[in-house]
Amino acid sequence: MERSTAIIGLALILYIAAAPVHSEYYSKSKPAVHMEEKVTHLHFFLHDILSGKNPSAVMIARPNRTDDKSPTPFGSVFATDDPLRTGPEPTSEIIGNAQGLYLSSSQDVTQFTIVMYIDFAFTTGKFKGSSFGVFSRNPVVEPHREVAVVGGRGKFRLARGFVEVKTAHFNGTSGDAILEYNVTLFHY
Ligand SMILES: *[C@@H]1O[C@H](CO)[C@@H](O)[C@H](O)[C@H]1NC(C)=O
Ligand SMILES: *[C@@H]1O[C@H](CO)[C@@H](O)[C@H](O)[C@H]1NC(C)=O
Ligand SMILES: *[C@@H]1O[C@H](CO)[C@@H](O)[C@H](O)[C@H]1NC(C)=O
Repeated sequence: MERSTAIIGLALILYIAAAPVHSEYYSKSKPAVHMEEKVTHLHFFLHDILSGKNPSAVMIARPNRTDDKSPTPFGSVFATDDPLRTGPEPTSEIIGNAQGLYLSSSQDVTQFTIVMYIDFAFTTGKFKGSSFGVFSRNPVVEPHREVAVVGGRGKFRLARGFVEVKTAHFNGTSGDAILEYNVTLFHY
């Protein structure tokens, strides 16, 4: 870049930065307008893959101990970008993804439990661009279990609800899991 152009550019940035901003603190409350609530059911499979060259979940922190040989030792934290698919087959169509974190939260290895902090977004269909948030304990060893939905974005704004989860496939050596999700969402 020419020196003069750079100076003009810099002057412009400084000018914009210094432009007066009419900042003001707002606060206003009024009774909420009653809106009709909808209930939506969703069914899909979450593929949480730790093994292979392209894992969808990666360990990002773990405690400094060597006695726990599990792929998900107590205290370990995973980041996920898990595909949501129409079926349990690894080749079935992708309809969204689950991005966030989960923590291996039980000291008792026989009670393998995670706490999920994960946002489920849809990339196709009627709910494309919308997502709901799961912040919940998930007792993974229970064949049928439930996790809590605490909010949402887009079409799922103000969502609350729950997910019934069933393990379709679990490999205790690799930690790979395929989970069936039945979601019930109340939203506007
Ligand atoms: C991990 O634990 C070992 C044994 O307790 C200790 O010697 C080592 O300094 C620890 N490493 C870190 C990074 O804390
Ligand atoms: C989801 O609902 C379908 C239909 O009611 C049922 O067949 C299936 O077992 C349920 N799965 C879970 C994980 O609850
Ligand atoms: C479980 O994972 C291990 C390690 O990736 C692999 O060697 C084994 O074949 C897997 N077992 C099944 C039943 O998929």
